[in-house]
Amino acid sequence: MEFIVKHNAPESARGACQIITVGQARKLSPSGQRVDKASKGYLSAILKRGDMEAKLGQTLLLSSVPGLAVQRVLLVGCGKESDMNERGFSRVINAIAGALAASGAREAEFYADEIKLKGRDLAWKIRHSALLLSNSEYHFDQLKSGKQERRKGLRKLGFNIARGEAAKARSAIAEASAISAGMELARDLGNLPANVCTPAYLARQARQLAKGDKRVRLNVLEEADMKRLKMGSLLSVSAGSRQPAKLITLEYRGAAAKQQPIALVGKGVTFDTGGISLKPGAAMDEMKFDMCGAASVLGTLKAVSQLQLPINVVGIVPATENMPDGLATKPGDIVSSMSGQTIEILNTDAEGRLILCDALTYADKFKPCCVIDIATLTGACIVALGKIPSAVLGNDRALIDDLIKCGEQIEDKIWELPLWDEYQDQIKSNFADMANIGGRDAGTITAACFLSRFTKTYKWAHLDIAGTAWKSGEDKGATGRPVPLLTQYLLSQVK
Ligand code: BES
Ligand code: MN
Ligand code: ZN
Repeated sequence: MEFIVKHNAPESARGACQIITVGQARKLSPSGQRVDKASKGYLSAILKRGDMEAKLGQTLLLSSVPGLAVQRVLLVGCGKESDMNERGFSRVINAIAGALAASGAREAEFYADEIKLKGRDLAWKIRHSALLLSNSEYHFDQLKSGKQERRKGLRKLGFNIARGEAAKARSAIAEASAISAGMELARDLGNLPANVCTPAYLARQARQLAKGDKRVRLNVLEEADMKRLKMGSLLSVSAGSRQPAKLITLEYRGAAAKQQPIALVGKGVTFDTGGISLKPGAAMDEMKFDMCGAASVLGTLKAVSQLQLPINVVGIVPATENMPDGLATKPGDIVSSMSGQTIEILNTDAEGRLILCDALTYADKFKPCCVIDIATLTGACIVALGKIPSAVLGNDRALIDDLIKCGEQIEDKIWELPLWDEYQDQIKSNFADMANIGGRDAGTITAACFLSRFTKTYKWAHLDIAGTAWKSGEDKGATGRPVPLLTQYLLSQVK
């Protein structure tokens, strides 16, 4: 979807649709009042008649309003001004998206700044609107046969603003477009089934990114390379799979070589059966989403490349399936990780940490200023926090605080869980340096405890996105999270 900046007077709009917000007591926004005047009170008469109560998210589409050149006017209720908050704002934008999708309008103009929202400036409102509108246009129907009869949706939205704000608005639009492009890639990769989206497929997608931007360099390690690097933990997960594992590295160089990169490490389990510790059948199809951490790394690199950010970023994706097989790793097997630490694999379904630990050790070679790993790591995360925030844990206060702030800024929230030393006892092993599971209690924390043993040499944060990376049920599908959070963090490292 295209977003533009406009400065025309509201009563002189002449396109397909004009969006007008209405507050409590059916009060038209300032632009609405001017349009009302031009239409000789047509809008206020409709409001008075009671067809539009201006409740939050209520819409009314008017066609061919007398006195106006614009084809349609979409009235949108915003409720009480003092009750408006971020969620309310999102509801208004989603209501607009729904009403426009149901109409034939392919273009519209909108006065985003007329919605008053404490602590949020014009740039925020534009960025957030653009993100929600682009996301609502997303469809995944590439694997349905036959012609799709879906109506063509919104193509272009104009943000009507004061002239002095144009520069700010344009950069907000550029950020939102890049984030949407990254989310779209992450959603597509997540939604693709595991018989298409294999480790090799992820490597090919990464190659596409590198092809499109000379600042991006790709490196793919094969299993033989991993063996040479002694990545026994990663290889223990791919041992049961016919699809060879890949360790994909994308280096984005937007700044001088001496500037330390930010490393993003994404779990890329393209299908998680649980391995020999086989998962139960119910909803197992959703384990095709177990590479959403990897998808968010590729999506974020896409956004960074589109924005040409003057920073260095390295994306690292360990990609593999987790399958049962005659050669698969068995409960009780002990493997040696690249770090030299040995691991007793008590449950082959706790495979995410086994591939991440070697990728995290490998990350050290890039001398990163910080490392953020992103993984659909534990079902326990959903038990603890539900599906609203991702969990964050790590070894650096400032990094975690920065990430939390960025999440609030871009509405891609995260919540911290404690990574106290006391929890480390839960992953003691009688036979190896550590076990790969820590019992039922605090499963998200003990998974992070495991990772923490491989991240001693740098500042590190871990994002558990088990609850946020995809939706189940009727709207089953990848969300594209946390591409907004990660991109916002990288943007914050520029400013
Ligand atoms: N990919 C799963 C985690 C997961 C499960 C995410 C369900 C979202 C929904 C991970 O590999 C896994 O299986 N974790 C186990 C760990 C346990 C064996 C310690 C889990 O959460 O049950
Ligand atoms: Mn698993
Ligand atoms: Zn998994």
